[in-house]
Amino acid sequence: MKKYTGAPLPFQGQKRRFVHQLEELAVRLGGGGATFVDLFGGSGLVSHVLKYTCPHCRVVYNDYDHYSERLANVGRTNEMLRALRPIVSGVTRTRRIDEPVRSQVVAEVERWAKSGYVDWFSLSSNLLFTMNYAHSLEEFAGQTLYNRIRQDDYNVEGYLEGVEVVSMDYRQLFDQFRLVSDVVFVLDPPYLSTDCGMYKSDSYWRLTDYLDVLKCLQGTRFVYFTSSKSAIIELADWMGRNQAIGNPFDGAKVVGGIALNYDDIMLVKAI
Ligand SMILES: C[S@@+](CC[C@H](N)C(=O)[O-])C[C@H]1O[C@@H](n2cnc3c(N)ncnc32)[C@H](O)[C@@H]1O
Repeated sequence: MKKYTGAPLPFQGQKRRFVHQLEELAVRLGGGGATFVDLFGGSGLVSHVLKYTCPHCRVVYNDYDHYSERLANVGRTNEMLRALRPIVSGVTRTRRIDEPVRSQVVAEVERWAKSGYVDWFSLSSNLLFTMNYAHSLEEFAGQTLYNRIRQDDYNVEGYLEGVEVVSMDYRQLFDQFRLVSDVVFVLDPPYLSTDCGMYKSDSYWRLTDYLDVLKCLQGTRFVYFTSSKSAIIELADWMGRNQAIGNPFDGAKVVGGIALNYDDIMLVKAI
């Protein structure tokens, strides 16, 4: 099995900076043969590192974004990039691709889109400005293109070897494993105030959604990731120290605000 310290295909939010800590954790928790359930699997990097470090452990990767489909199509992606390289060869690396080359690139991508699967995220990382992602030919054709094309093929060999791949909402997967003995849940939800443009769930994650995730932490063994910019830990700490308070807004009425088309709201409880 080959060791990866980063996801082999581009993925925003992958935990490459935590590989070392995850290895230590797998050694410490996996000794007795734990089951790791990666509820927000993303690129599968966490699952890969856990399985690589602890081969006898069961590792379940929740591939909510269908990353494994991208892996399965890597041959086609490599072929497409090979066809695109000569087209952009006259453009300085990282520079904007202007006409007439731009139209040639779009025509080539259209040819691939018409004949089958296109990994739009990998293509975007090669031809769009950093952190810009197109999800379709229409979106791609409407963007400014840059020559960020990589010079070698992607290699994904053995990346998910031994890992069990599933794809479902994290709550459903959590329910399937909550009573399994020796289970360790990995929770790496989309961060608050993070651009989730690359993720399948383009539905907006509200504060309630982040708080709902915390229900999976109660009475379980877990690894939880969050951003230092998120106030979740501070909020949870405060709630823990002030449990008796309940919901102080219980019975209060919202006055004004959204209905009147402004952001501020007034809550009133006068009895
Ligand atoms: C921060 S990323 C996880 C990154 C991952 N740990 C890695 O190393 O690549 C969060 C992931 O949660 C996924 N997600 C969003 N809503 C979800 C849901 N309801 N159930 C499961 N996964 C979800 C997103 O699509 C995204 O892939």
